[in-house]
Amino acid sequence: MKIRVCVLFGGRSVEHEISVISGLQAYNSLDRQKYEVTAVYISKSGTMYCGERISDIGAYKDIDGLLRDSYPVAMARDGDGVKLLRLEPGLFKKPLIGYIDVVLPVVHGTNVEDGTAAGYLNMLGAAYAGCDILSSSVGMDKYATKLILRESGIPVLDCRVYTVREYDTNPMSVTASVESELSYPVIVKPVNLGSSVGISVARDKEELVSALEEAFRYSRRVLVERAISSLTEINCSVLGDYDSCETSLLERPVSTEEILSYSDKYIAGSKGSKGMASTKRVIPADISLETTRAIEELAKKAFTALGCCGVARLDFMIDNSSGSIYLNEINTIPGSLSFYLWEPKGVSYSELLDRLISLALKRRRDDSSITYTFDTNVLSNVSLQGAKGAKLGGK
Ligand SMILES: Nc1ncnc2c1ncn2[C@@H]1O[C@H](COP(=O)(O)OP(=O)(O)O)[C@@H](O)[C@H]1O
Ligand SMILES: [Mg+2]
Repeated sequence: MKIRVCVLFGGRSVEHEISVISGLQAYNSLDRQKYEVTAVYISKSGTMYCGERISDIGAYKDIDGLLRDSYPVAMARDGDGVKLLRLEPGLFKKPLIGYIDVVLPVVHGTNVEDGTAAGYLNMLGAAYAGCDILSSSVGMDKYATKLILRESGIPVLDCRVYTVREYDTNPMSVTASVESELSYPVIVKPVNLGSSVGISVARDKEELVSALEEAFRYSRRVLVERAISSLTEINCSVLGDYDSCETSLLERPVSTEEILSYSDKYIAGSKGSKGMASTKRVIPADISLETTRAIEELAKKAFTALGCCGVARLDFMIDNSSGSIYLNEINTIPGSLSFYLWEPKGVSYSELLDRLISLALKRRRDDSSITYTFDTNVLSNVSLQGAKGAKLGGK
């Protein structure tokens, strides 16, 4: 029997469109000899949809029209499995769409990639590919990522974090803190976004104020760190889980602006239809063998330290003036699932998806050997009145 796979994409995130591209790339690359595949699109307002046109990339030119032709769905637990249900069933439209063995979340950004999708799927007891709740949410928060990486001996740039409350209450104290603790140029980033949204470099106080205001439009917490003036960026994908992992080829993305922008990542050099696979890049990265090996080792160490599973992309920065390597960030569900870094290593896109699905099923098997319940039922001889004085001290 074929494995029933549900590809989940979209979501309430500024990277919504990129996720549609990544999701449909994955949908089209899954081996139909092995899998029965259903596409589930999460709209910008957070509703899940199925329908004939949901897997047609052309239909997303008119999302309102697409939603009119599609129908809202929900997932529900059923025995040991998970089923997909049509909400608002009609006379000739039964609620049950089908059963799901594995979910493949191809979502990017806040409200989905940040552990939200993993939490939803975990609650349902669904087997799903990729990082679990904790690694997803830590990976989405650039500050939390740095703390864990630093603790694990992986080099990261020092940074300061400010909240919108602090800034609104006393903007001068925030700019003064940046100026006393870091030196210009600095780079300002929303703590939990991706795709370069809300990020800018500041060379003086005036630019710092506009950079902070821009970043605070997207997040209640922003991070400020030294901007590396002479920068080489290197990305490395890692595939595996807690037991073992391996690295892809390295890439050097090429930017046309001071920082690698949204347009560099998704628009430049293409008609904007290939997602992360369209970025201008050099593969394998044109750096020394020694630096390549050092980055591969750091990438695997970071993947393990953060407790990742599936395929992630770890982005590094080399400060050309000192040769120092820093891990900048992790993408727990990378654009285009980084397939373009695996293909030149001999792992085809459909093989990469096979590996993700078997890792998901392996985690499910490993999880099933863990005890989550006790047979004794404390509730069997409890009444609220009798328990009034109980302090539930163990909790
Ligand atoms: N400390 C830094 N110094 C110089 N450039 C940086 C620094 N941090 C980020 N950048 C530039 O900004 C881009 C986006 O920053 P990044 O932290 O990767 O955020 P995102 O999650 O949006 O991709 C990077 O790809 C790089 O070009
Ligand atoms: Mg980045």
